[in-house]
Amino acid sequence: MLLTDDDKAMRDGRDGEAVAAAMDLLIRYGNGLDAERLCSVRNVAGTSTQPTPAKEKIAAEGGWNKAYAVINLDCDDDIEIPKMRVPTCQLQHGFSADALNVTPYNPHLVELQAEAESFASDRGINILATCTPYQVGNLPVRGEHIAWMESSAVVYANSVIGAKSNCEGTASTGAAGLTGRVPYWGNHLDENRHGTHLIRSEVPVESFQDWGLFGYFTGEVVQEERPVLTGRLGLPSQADLKHLGAALATTGGVEIFHLPGVTPEAPTIKAAFGPGRVPEPVMFTEADRREAYELLNSQGDTEDVDFVLLGCPHASLEQLGEIAGLLDGRRLHPGTELWIMTPRALRAVADRNGYTEIIERAGGKLLTDSCPAMSRTAPEGTRVFATDSAKQAHYLPAILGIEAWFGTTAECVQAAVTGRWKGELA
Ligand code: F3S
Repeated sequence: MLLTDDDKAMRDGRDGEAVAAAMDLLIRYGNGLDAERLCSVRNVAGTSTQPTPAKEKIAAEGGWNKAYAVINLDCDDDIEIPKMRVPTCQLQHGFSADALNVTPYNPHLVELQAEAESFASDRGINILATCTPYQVGNLPVRGEHIAWMESSAVVYANSVIGAKSNCEGTASTGAAGLTGRVPYWGNHLDENRHGTHLIRSEVPVESFQDWGLFGYFTGEVVQEERPVLTGRLGLPSQADLKHLGAALATTGGVEIFHLPGVTPEAPTIKAAFGPGRVPEPVMFTEADRREAYELLNSQGDTEDVDFVLLGCPHASLEQLGEIAGLLDGRRLHPGTELWIMTPRALRAVADRNGYTEIIERAGGKLLTDSCPAMSRTAPEGTRVFATDSAKQAHYLPAILGIEAWFGTTAECVQAAVTGRWKGELA
């Protein structure tokens, strides 16, 4: 792999042992991928604070420098981790202290995460603590090379913002933050970003639920490839695009989609395919839509709902306003809990706007930093949950061994208020 003089100087220890270890990791990673070189990034979104048993053991034996070295740099040496070289943020992680006594999350993990957070903040890592960094101040520009992990954030960055990222990992983002470099391969190259499949919807795709179902179907069809979406599509909101991308990255490994007129580098279907030929479309029919819906509801059996989860990916202010409107003046069913996940920075606005008060007056909880899938936590005794998120409906039954219902936001709020599931596909 071609290295610049700056890369070589970092590798050879000019900037200290940790940066040398980071560069060593990136060179090994790049060589493994057959990347011809590295490229510069000035925006990294990774994770170094999520509490895990392995991290706890390493930190107990060798401190947090050691934990970062082993987990984020694949390095066993005793090295000091300096400040990040480029702007770096922490994505979602476990719950924090304000969730104690509100969720059954283990207090020991809260303490462990607080220690990791303090170590990371001292090194310049911004604790955004969300899977949607683009909602809270981390907004790359079109064409910018970035190094992000979290599948739903990467697909949003590539497809809606027009930035360029692969789905990075804990170690590659750990090294990218310290060097400002990442292997130049995959989605960083324009020729790898063009569409591969044309997916045409025969049915109107307009609501938040529609976009999730369309994404859930399309991810299954294209797997790791790059769909170009067309047909009877309305103009999606930011929340719709979050839901679409998260669903595409759930049934498939989609890292970029093209929505002509929305995706910055795809003003038209033809442009989305670049120099390639526009293929015959795969149709998304009413039968496909129903099949996706039924698949998402195939893990629901009992109509009594113990738990309702909204905000996956983390809810926008627009969504919080909608939920508050649906809950205003109502009370949750005594046996049902409602959790709504949002970034901490948006929670501050929701507090100020009165959304939090309405949600809490109804008996709901507005939570930050994490989610049930990430924290592996749900209200005690949950057997049946309902959600408006295709991603959470897909994963949570396997993670927590519970039943799932998938429906609209309004149906989920209704289930929280009545304790009963009454969903149907409109
Ligand atoms: Fe975010 Fe958790 Fe969903 S991290 S995308 S809310 S599974």
